Amino acid sequence: MDQTSLPHSVLVVGSGGREHALVRAMAASPSAPDILAAPGNPGMAADGAECHAVKADDIAGLVTLAQSQAIDFVVVGSEVPLALGLVDALLAVGIPAYGPKADGGELEASKVLTKQILLKYGLPTAPAGIFEQVEPALDYLRARGAPIVVKADGLAAGKGVIVAQSLDEAEAAVRDMLEGNKFGASGSRVLIEDCLTGEETSILVVVSGHDYVTLPTSQDHKRIGEGDTGPNTGGMGTYSPAEVVTPELLAQIDREIVLPSVEAIANEGIDFRGTLFIGIMLTTAGPSVLEYNTRFGDPETQVVLPRLGCDVLELLWRAAQGTLAGFDLQVKEQSAAMCVVIAAAGYPGDYPKGDPINLPDPLPASVAVIQAGTAHDTSGQLVSSGGRVLGVTAVSTDLQSAADAAYATCDAIEMTTKVFRRDIGARQFNRA
Ligand code: AMP
Ligand code: GLY
Repeated sequence: MDQTSLPHSVLVVGSGGREHALVRAMAASPSAPDILAAPGNPGMAADGAECHAVKADDIAGLVTLAQSQAIDFVVVGSEVPLALGLVDALLAVGIPAYGPKADGGELEASKVLTKQILLKYGLPTAPAGIFEQVEPALDYLRARGAPIVVKADGLAAGKGVIVAQSLDEAEAAVRDMLEGNKFGASGSRVLIEDCLTGEETSILVVVSGHDYVTLPTSQDHKRIGEGDTGPNTGGMGTYSPAEVVTPELLAQIDREIVLPSVEAIANEGIDFRGTLFIGIMLTTAGPSVLEYNTRFGDPETQVVLPRLGCDVLELLWRAAQGTLAGFDLQVKEQSAAMCVVIAAAGYPGDYPKGDPINLPDPLPASVAVIQAGTAHDTSGQLVSSGGRVLGVTAVSTDLQSAADAAYATCDAIEMTTKVFRRDIGARQFNRA
């Protein structure tokens, strides 16, 4: 196929809420592509995706699937296949894909690499030390004092960051990572960095080499408990736009963080074509980079994509093809979105699976129930199969009405073990 026409068949790799949101967004493309998912989930299937039971980390299996199904374009959802080189493997057999190659995936897979790049190019980020041995790490901790943040270098499914309020807690985290082997190879190096305070925002940037398009702002809620208490999770809810990021602040973030990040990555010799998700802390001294992720956020994607008024398939395709320059990003005027995550009680610790789920039918027009950890049991009943089970997403003209619609649906969903935070968007409502 030529580079200007859009792909006829798209394979989405992953099984979570982010991938379900990607399926929905691309299914709405005027070009009406065939959509396949691997391994997918019942929600994607209900939205017309043909699901194939190939796991997201089975690189050879995914390449074989894409070849056997004559896929025109692969969109990779999660960081794991990216770091394992899925995109390299697809490109090697001539299949275009959205997502960075393994060298770009390293930006998420190694927090040390990212910190080195941030420091080398003078981007705003917390001062940090990098350690492989316990004693020098403990000396550094004592010199900096608490609160302090200890991070395992490698991928740890969101569990490798400890924001320690005391030196004892920080020391335990360092020992766990370097001695306890709690994080395997991911914890063989640690990053110890100063603790920043402020509000966080997620900036999702579609990057294609030197070109980029910044998507609407959003804010995640990482802690399990209301009032931002309890352990960190993959994300318990999001809303977009995050009005704490005023147009002036967004311009500053673009100037001081997004543009220099894209240039730094290109300058390092990485031809990055995918999502650069920049986690930013808005401190009183200005915006500061917490991390790079190299894929869409989950559940940020659930609130960002439905607010776009342009063709998401075209956006991702052009990024992959290197023809992103001049892309006209359209955001629906007067739109606001909220996603409330329904988790299984116990998450992010141990939780039960197999709990029957009954969704209201029909759903209000403004609401989409994005599925994340779901499956069908042998009788065809929808059941829970993961920690984060559903993402109840509403899009409206303002955040309050989006919240009202999302929460009414959360209450109406039948699932014995369901838990969710009642305070998604609280920071924004308190500002207003
Ligand atoms: P990361 O995976 O690096 O984004 O870290 C996960 C979460 O830990 C972030 O979303 C923050 O809430 C928190 N965090 C990370 N780095 C810092 C820091 N330097 N200061 C305060 N909180 C942090
Ligand atoms: N919601 C945060 C993430 O996707 O990493």
